[in-house]
Amino acid sequence: MDMKLVFQDAAGFATPMLAVFAVDIATGKDADPLVALLTTSDAVSNAAATALATGEFKAVLGEQLLLHAPNGLKAQRLLIVGLGKAKTLSVDEVRKGAGTAVRSAKPRGVREMAIAFPEDHALDDEHMENLPCTLLCRALVEGAAFAERDWDTYRSERKDVSVQELTVVARDAEASTTEEIQKGFEEGQIVAAAQNFARVLVNEPGNVLTPTELGRRAAAMCAEVGLECEVHSTEKLLELGMGAFHAVAKGSAEAPALIVMTYQPKLEKGKTLAKDAPVLGLVGKGITFDTGGISIKPADGMEKMKYDMAGAAAMIGAMRAIAQLKPAVKVIGVVCSAENMPSGRAYKPGDVVTSMSGKTIEILNTDAEGRLVLADGLHYAKTLGCTHLIDAATLTGACVVALGIINAGLFSNDEAAFEKFLNAMKVSGEKFWRLPCTEDYKDQIKSQIADIMNTGGTRWGGAISAAMFLKEFADETPWVHLDIAGCAWIEEVKPWQPKGPSGIAVRSIIEWVRGYEA
Ligand code: BES
Ligand code: ZN
Ligand code: ZN
Repeated sequence: MDMKLVFQDAAGFATPMLAVFAVDIATGKDADPLVALLTTSDAVSNAAATALATGEFKAVLGEQLLLHAPNGLKAQRLLIVGLGKAKTLSVDEVRKGAGTAVRSAKPRGVREMAIAFPEDHALDDEHMENLPCTLLCRALVEGAAFAERDWDTYRSERKDVSVQELTVVARDAEASTTEEIQKGFEEGQIVAAAQNFARVLVNEPGNVLTPTELGRRAAAMCAEVGLECEVHSTEKLLELGMGAFHAVAKGSAEAPALIVMTYQPKLEKGKTLAKDAPVLGLVGKGITFDTGGISIKPADGMEKMKYDMAGAAAMIGAMRAIAQLKPAVKVIGVVCSAENMPSGRAYKPGDVVTSMSGKTIEILNTDAEGRLVLADGLHYAKTLGCTHLIDAATLTGACVVALGIINAGLFSNDEAAFEKFLNAMKVSGEKFWRLPCTEDYKDQIKSQIADIMNTGGTRWGGAISAAMFLKEFADETPWVHLDIAGCAWIEEVKPWQPKGPSGIAVRSIIEWVRGYEA
């Protein structure tokens, strides 16, 4: 979808469909909805007035009202999109509203559309401070680009219902405001493209996206945006002593891939990064299919395990945006990709493996493979010079039991790194909830015969056992762990989102990285 930004009165913009946002400004608990449009254009308000006066449209989030041949507008259609109550309006509703507008246009065969940038918010000044123009425009662009995707790539008879061109129409204002909007517009496109890049990878079936193919796609992306990229396989795993990663990989006929992407900031002439400047390590779980291995999973729902590489996809996507946003901080992306299969060469419960760090691991369950590949990935990132680590992984079903599908799990051994992530979430709008990984949980991974074991001695707190395991390998290095098992695949259709890959964590990781800029 091509995007454009213009500054003019929305009423004079000729387009097959103009979308405008609406909020409910009624105060008091049981008051009837009172709908206000977020536009300063009198002509747009007038065109909607008769329809709104019926009281039919309540401006509930995701609600839509479509008017044909709106009076006094150059647009052929006016789509009014509800964002919910004015009092609780945040950039998140704008992201969802923009998505709703696009998903409403698609089945109608509308190929070109416009969205009126939300203005005159009918809100008090204090609330307005939470809605800066840059973030509003960014969210609008992100929501629209997210919603445009449908996952019918593998249907032989695809219905082409794509919106090919979207114009954001903002009122002509003072230069400082238009610059802010422009900045959000550009950032939004970079971030949205990164998220969609990750979603495409997650959507691919396991037979198409093998570890080798994931390596190829990462390398192609890196070449396109100017990142260094190396893709290694079995030989390198053995040379580095990655006994944990290799144990998982060796049951499959597909070779593993260790993908290393490096972003080195180019500073202005004469400037160099301080010697003690942070180096950020982004480590992703890239299991392209998780059968569970010898501890095989039940057949029901096993097909979902093609998305067990969503953590890797998030890191690859984030690296793409980092290359384009060019923050002044060095970033290394490390993806550990393998297929977890049962076979005559597969690792077994009871095996003891030696990780790259030297720590020995007793395998109790071959389905707890994600933590094994990440153990070597985290340690390897440290040997590459990373001073701060973040990992993303569809790691445990237990995390889904604990938090459901609304919040993903977050763990950290460092308050400062955690704070940076909290700030990142304010921009990304993604939801993560912190769970503990304090030393008193360590007994859960104590082994009888090795340094640690790969599953908890108890079935309680399974997401925490997994985090405690990873913490052993992050060790003293500040580290954030994201367990995205419940949020990587959307099962619920909403007006702003289709079923399928979510691209969760891409936006937050990008912002977390930017939080470390020199
Ligand atoms: N890939 C799964 C976790 C998962 C579950 C991802 C649901 C997405 C949705 C992971 O490798 C796994 O199988 N974990 C086991 C760990 C157990 C054996 C300790 C689990 O959660 O059951
Ligand atoms: Zn597993
Ligand atoms: Zn897995």
